[in-house]
Amino acid sequence: MSEQRLIIKGGTPLRGSIRVQGAKNSALPIIAAALLCEGKTELHNCPCISDTYSSCRILTCLGCRCSFKKNDNLLIIDPSGADKTYIPDELMQEMRSSIIYMGAMLGAFGECRLSFPGGCQLGPRPIDMHLAALKKMGVRINEQYGSIECRVPEKMQGARISLGYPSVGATENIILAAVKAGGETVITNAAREPEIVDMVSFLNKCGARIRGAGGSTIAIDGVERLEGCCYNIMPDRIAAATYVSAAVCSRGEIELQGIDISLCDSYMPVFEQMGCGIYPCERGIYVNAAKHLKAPAGIITLPHPGFPTDAQPPLMAAVCKAAGTTIFEETVFENRYRHVDALGKMGADIKVVGKAAVVRGVDTMYGARVSALDLRGGAALAAAAVGAEG
Ligand code: UD1
Repeated sequence: MSEQRLIIKGGTPLRGSIRVQGAKNSALPIIAAALLCEGKTELHNCPCISDTYSSCRILTCLGCRCSFKKNDNLLIIDPSGADKTYIPDELMQEMRSSIIYMGAMLGAFGECRLSFPGGCQLGPRPIDMHLAALKKMGVRINEQYGSIECRVPEKMQGARISLGYPSVGATENIILAAVKAGGETVITNAAREPEIVDMVSFLNKCGARIRGAGGSTIAIDGVERLEGCCYNIMPDRIAAATYVSAAVCSRGEIELQGIDISLCDSYMPVFEQMGCGIYPCERGIYVNAAKHLKAPAGIITLPHPGFPTDAQPPLMAAVCKAAGTTIFEETVFENRYRHVDALGKMGADIKVVGKAAVVRGVDTMYGARVSALDLRGGAALAAAAVGAEG
């Protein structure tokens, strides 16, 4: 891919309204879930991001037809021609979410062949829990030279699965594999993220029988068939966090449209602690970050409903100029401080020791030539740049 660059002239407070796009982490599993349906699925509010295009390439490679009307954020998927069960490595490498096609293909065809996924390098991202759960459901898995071949001897069978950690991707893969399996599947210590709730709402609208999404125990009664439907993807709470962060960095005042404040409960209180005014308004959320800002109490990233790891980089950009010291503890990913060096280059005072990062507020940040090494880290740099001089 050719180098892509953003040139940002900072120092002007952000003011205005913006509609929050559909959630990436909800759209991607829902796009994969459309493979399990008979008939077309129409996804509204689908974000126009490169991962949507990667998902379409995967589905097309499996024999589906995808049409993405990006100006309307409408994706139409017709899975009726799907007849392949193999995803080539180059498509698997395009994004981390490609692993979700393991559950989707097993649910749809009872077999699949793919490789380990690519995506942002945030430390080791194993898929051991995905594989162990699928084995419990009767899937035979043959791993060789990075290729994963999965086959179900007869029909996929429901099982009781207790996850050692509430992994988002593993929870989604199990649900996708279980939705048309024989009997009941019960997942304990399931991930509770709102995006899982959104995927389950989509599947239930298609005719699935899934209870408990949003809680730690999810029960899935296998059904014979699913029918494609029209569905509206939920708004992206992490994109919203990024906009709030950019408003904070530049001491601005913004309105986020199309998102309910309750969706942001896991992180908005931190911005309030910093002294920002955050209020629900008719069209969504109003954010006033024009005041003097102070460092919030310690931030520990955790699975939902804890502080989201995806909001850690943008929040870090926001606290760089807050008065006082902020201590972060990143518990979800091992290598999620890759934005720190670049923020330092822009004038921030940040020290990383193991899982902790200590940020001491500075008065001014400066524009610099920096590189985005992962998605959310890059968003954090853009937010910091908006509030930096030059
Ligand atoms: C999803 C999100 C990502 C978010 C993350 C945590 C999508 C498309 N991506 O990623 O934006 O940052 O949740 O909220 O929804 N783990 C294992 N073994 C496994 C699976 C996971 O050890 O089999 C570990 C991972 O290495 C990581 C932790 O569990 O340390 C969390 O991973 P997981 O919840 O699975 O994240 P993803 O689904 O990859």
